[in-house]
Amino acid sequence: MNWQTSINPEDKIVQEQLKSKGKLPRHIAIIMDGNGRWASEKNLNRLEGHKVGIESVRDVVKASSQIGIEYLTLYAFSLENWKRPISEVNGLMQLLEHYLKAEIDELYTNNVRIYSIGKLSALPKTIQKLLIDAKNLTKDNTGLTLTLALSYSGRWDIVRAVQLITLDVRRGKISPEDITEELFSSYLQTNILVEPDLLIRTSGEMRLSNFLLWEMAYGEIYISNKYWPEFRRDDLYDAINNYLNRERRFGKTSAQIHTEISNIIPTSNKKN
Ligand code: IPE
Ligand code: IPE
Ligand code: MG
Repeated sequence: MNWQTSINPEDKIVQEQLKSKGKLPRHIAIIMDGNGRWASEKNLNRLEGHKVGIESVRDVVKASSQIGIEYLTLYAFSLENWKRPISEVNGLMQLLEHYLKAEIDELYTNNVRIYSIGKLSALPKTIQKLLIDAKNLTKDNTGLTLTLALSYSGRWDIVRAVQLITLDVRRGKISPEDITEELFSSYLQTNILVEPDLLIRTSGEMRLSNFLLWEMAYGEIYISNKYWPEFRRDDLYDAINNYLNRERRFGKTSAQIHTEISNIIPTSNKKN
């Protein structure tokens, strides 16, 4: 199915309104939380929550691609999540395998580039292979970059970067003085992405849970009270709308930001 031509007219209107309101976030990252609680409240097994959560993934990926978001990063499984009961971990791995197999063709046809971050060597071999194949197949796609954070931990990625940098120093490829924030970022697995502009966490929890620790230095945070299985495109639009109403100051004052904005607007468009 072609997502651009099959877009529903009401959706198109909302998307156009958002686009005309300001510069959309280039990179949206989501902590998809609350699957278990959603299921428990309905007296269902936690895995039922993860299953319905995949419907939310489908809808949010499609809407993000249609509206023109460049990067979408989904926290699907943390390094700490391995500590959950084995039955839940196995169920999640099966769902992930199923998602990758079922969705890859549609993602490919819709110009999505697939990427992943995290300690992938800890994942089952079948999933590692599916991810490698998906990345290879979609590597030249130019639409949405969909990054799956799997077996991911922000601290783990930072420590890994330190190890790689140390090796390069030892080999004489770089010297300690060369280590800048920019160089450090280039050793992180997220180096092909831009920094997140907007981080959404569902289920009302207000913490990062080891997600994109370095990258979120200046990212905007939006908390939705909905559980992830109930979070759909309209909730994504609400989050983007909320983001568009904010002022990102990056340490400067509001007055400085206003001056910068008025300097970008051509004089002919300026109101007297
Ligand atoms: C998020 O939902 C999915 C994963 C962490 C894999 P949870 O499974 O954390 O659901 P809650 O937070 O227990 O409700
Ligand atoms: C964070 O959710 C990880 C994912 C959404 C994959 P958790 O449910 O694992 O986080 P905590 O334990 O509540 O912080
Ligand atoms: Mg949780």
